[in-house]
Amino acid sequence: MGRRLEEYTHEELIEYIKELKKQTRRRYGLVWEEKIKPEKVVEECETKLPVVKEVEERALGGAEDEPTNIIIEGDNYHALSVLNYTHAGKIDVIYIDPPYNTGNKDFIYNDCYVDKEDTFRHSKWLSFMDKRLRLAKTLLSENGIILISIDDNEQAELKLLCESLFGAENFIGCAPRKTRGSATTKGTAELQTLGDYLLIYAKHKSGLTLQKKIVGEKKYPYSDDRGDYYTVPLQDNGPHGTREARPNLWYPIYVLDDGELTYKEPERFKEKVLPQQHQNKEGRWMWSKKKFDTDKKDLLIKDGRAFIKHYYKEGEDQNIYQYEKLWLDEFQNAKGTKVLNEVLGEKGLFNNPKPVELINYCIGLSRNKSAVVLDFFAGSGTTGQAVMELNKQDGGHRQFILVTNNEAKGKADAGAEGIAEKVTYPRIKTVITGIRPDGTKYSDGIPANLRYFKTDFVEKGKTTDDTREALITECSDMIRIRENAFEHVASAPEYRFYKNDKVFVPIIFDQFAIAETWEKVEEFNTDKLPVHCYNFSYNRHANEEEIPEDTRLEWTACSIPETVLEVYKKIFRKKEV
Ligand SMILES: C[S@@+](CC[C@H](N)C(=O)[O-])C[C@H]1O[C@@H](n2cnc3c(N)ncnc32)[C@H](O)[C@@H]1O
Repeated sequence: MGRRLEEYTHEELIEYIKELKKQTRRRYGLVWEEKIKPEKVVEECETKLPVVKEVEERALGGAEDEPTNIIIEGDNYHALSVLNYTHAGKIDVIYIDPPYNTGNKDFIYNDCYVDKEDTFRHSKWLSFMDKRLRLAKTLLSENGIILISIDDNEQAELKLLCESLFGAENFIGCAPRKTRGSATTKGTAELQTLGDYLLIYAKHKSGLTLQKKIVGEKKYPYSDDRGDYYTVPLQDNGPHGTREARPNLWYPIYVLDDGELTYKEPERFKEKVLPQQHQNKEGRWMWSKKKFDTDKKDLLIKDGRAFIKHYYKEGEDQNIYQYEKLWLDEFQNAKGTKVLNEVLGEKGLFNNPKPVELINYCIGLSRNKSAVVLDFFAGSGTTGQAVMELNKQDGGHRQFILVTNNEAKGKADAGAEGIAEKVTYPRIKTVITGIRPDGTKYSDGIPANLRYFKTDFVEKGKTTDDTREALITECSDMIRIRENAFEHVASAPEYRFYKNDKVFVPIIFDQFAIAETWEKVEEFNTDKLPVHCYNFSYNRHANEEEIPEDTRLEWTACSIPETVLEVYKKIFRKKEV
């Protein structure tokens, strides 16, 4: 029970009124209790800066010319902060399946399950999601889309949250998904829910074209002196195709002796054509009289009916498409469990993984077959499997980034028993190698490259320069992820060199050793790849003048760790980090 207003001191009353004023300022939208205990993972960032470190023995490779996929184990608040440095504006598809906040041991906040009796149940979930979605938004590319699985526990709240973050104008749809086939005799609900939803937003909806299914190719069976053509009826056979619904689109078409067409009643005519009956009523045309006047040369009258002629046009897309439906009835949960059990050869390791086909549908909406796909509630790793299988099916080169904590039994990191260690990594490894953890064969494997990272921290120093010095030695893996350059070439105390088949990446730790290190860059960069050089500096200046003028290598230089700190300053909203 709260105190009565009469018991408040003058100062407390003023505070109370100020708070009320703040809360009522927002006239429409979502409000939640913001004075809940902040998350530990967020507070941690006041004294430490998140980084990632590779677990080298988990790397898998062998797929030449293919991108390197990434798993990051740790809290997604930290991993998304790191990705804000490595992948801002570079993610094409985000699919997430966050805890639904059922009150039934699915959502952990500050190392505790949030149960149904928790007064701040929705506020905790919204605050948790708000922080992560804000970080995720800046990762989306210009054509990026985000798809979120959710059920009735938080669907309405999440929709309003997304509306405020992504903008109502970028809402693509909320697709209901059938999760199971039929209602059960168990439980208390007389009406049982058999589904959840997929909420879809674009970074910028205007100008975005989603993938459509190709269901055929246009055919041009007729020809005349203007070229090859096919016909479609001028009559509208849709649900509103009656004269009653659109009276202006009903008119007779008269064919004159010379073949000319008109809707103005002439004295003499060869033939009069009217729309046919539709839904037992008078039908109507698709064209207005104005359109008829300008385009009647494209009309054909045959057997008492009117048709529009579509001529072949050079360069025009000749495919026939069907749009995807926003009603998902083919991706029920049981399929997801069956596949996970088959991959790992063991049952009961994870409840309700999503079906691979559902995530294929999500990824397939993007037209980019080299899309970078992020799932930061990756759980059992279904999104990773979906990306690899879709690439195999359509010859794509998509790359996945999976982020998951290592939770089990209410603990966010449960060591060898946690989900990342026990399910996510073994699953992805099995799909790549085709061999299950127990040594049995699952499949022929799908060649793909993988690097495994864990989140870690750098303690902030007493001064920003101390922080810079501490961060520089720990941010190499962030740079490798940013450049997608994982192959180690050479190391010395003052440098580390990495590369991929397109770029050579020197990280130079000593600002006074840039010129002499450049000699090593020339020596080790045997393929003369373009160089993306990361030079230590106490400020934004990358000391480019130290790079020898006569080098024949193409290069760009970037100052670190300043560029990392700038990203963190924005995220953690502190002047000094
Ligand atoms: C509903 S499951 C996702 C299941 C996944 N779609 C699949 O098919 O396996 C949500 C997952 O998010 C992970 N998770 C929850 N909170 C997290 C956090 N703060 N950071 C990283 N992962 C988290 C949990 O380990 C949980 O497995």
